[in-house]
Amino acid sequence: MRERTLFLSAIVGIVLVGAGFAVASQVNVMPPEASTRAVAVDQLFRILLGVSTVIFLLVEGALVFAVIRFRRRAGDDRPGPALHGNTSLEILWTLIPAAIVVVIGVYSFQVLAAIESPGQGPRVVEVVGRQFSWQFRYPEVDLATTELHLPVGQPVVFQISSEDVIHSFWVPAFRAKRDATPGQISELAMTPIEIGTFPIRCAELCGAGHAIMTSEVVVESPEDFTAWLAQQQAMANDPAQIFLTMGCGACHTLTAAGTTGTIGPVLDDLPKVAGTREPGVAAADYVEQSLVHPDDFIVPGFPPGLMPKNFSQRLTPDQIQRLVAFLLGPS
Ligand code: CUA
Repeated sequence: MRERTLFLSAIVGIVLVGAGFAVASQVNVMPPEASTRAVAVDQLFRILLGVSTVIFLLVEGALVFAVIRFRRRAGDDRPGPALHGNTSLEILWTLIPAAIVVVIGVYSFQVLAAIESPGQGPRVVEVVGRQFSWQFRYPEVDLATTELHLPVGQPVVFQISSEDVIHSFWVPAFRAKRDATPGQISELAMTPIEIGTFPIRCAELCGAGHAIMTSEVVVESPEDFTAWLAQQQAMANDPAQIFLTMGCGACHTLTAAGTTGTIGPVLDDLPKVAGTREPGVAAADYVEQSLVHPDDFIVPGFPPGLMPKNFSQRLTPDQIQRLVAFLLGPS
């Protein structure tokens, strides 16, 4: 009778677990598989999950069975049987896991080698992290942008670095994540395989604006990509474009550039207040100095040290003058 109850419970358990997996397999919790990396990584993940599930059920099933079947009965105070080792059993349960680990290890290594290989004639895109925005540079056309565009089906190698602290370039839909480390270039290769717009995140706590350090990657047809590249080049010298490309909008609200950042002071009233902030400093000088040496003049309510101090290296003097004139509005 007791054996039958146990047998029935085991059957019910197996059916429930099976049904659970059937339901779970219909719910997709993963982002889209938008790159060659994603396909290989997801397949590896599913196989590991499957193997682990089988082992978990076997081990826990044996444990639960032993706990119930061999428990101490009421009134039975005899000592348990004295057991010694079973050599064949021990060899068996050492060899089987060892074989599983070796197979998983070889397969994982193959997947790693495959996803890290850059493909045929990859396009280089430089990814630069800084507090608190991403910049993307296309060295083939000498262009820098804040939004990443890629042509579908063409291999790309990201050369990832940082201008200040450690960030982490992360595109969940590509299953691609790599640290952006100051003074070091890390490469990440893949081929986008799905047209669409996918989020880019920073995956390393990098300061007060970490959560807003986001962007998007637009994967489009090669024709659309070429058209976008040409349009970006045409805008490269537009001061509003400089403002956006340098990531100023992540921290500053400026209606003329359509940005709404709140880490730094609002810049909309700059034409009115720039000349009154520091006694004896003209408006244009005040703005230029604030751009090049941000800690010289601190707007009350904002801590010093927030704004990057390297705009004089990243912008040409001509671009700085254009940006100052733009911030002071049409005069
Ligand atoms: Cu950059 Cu977090």
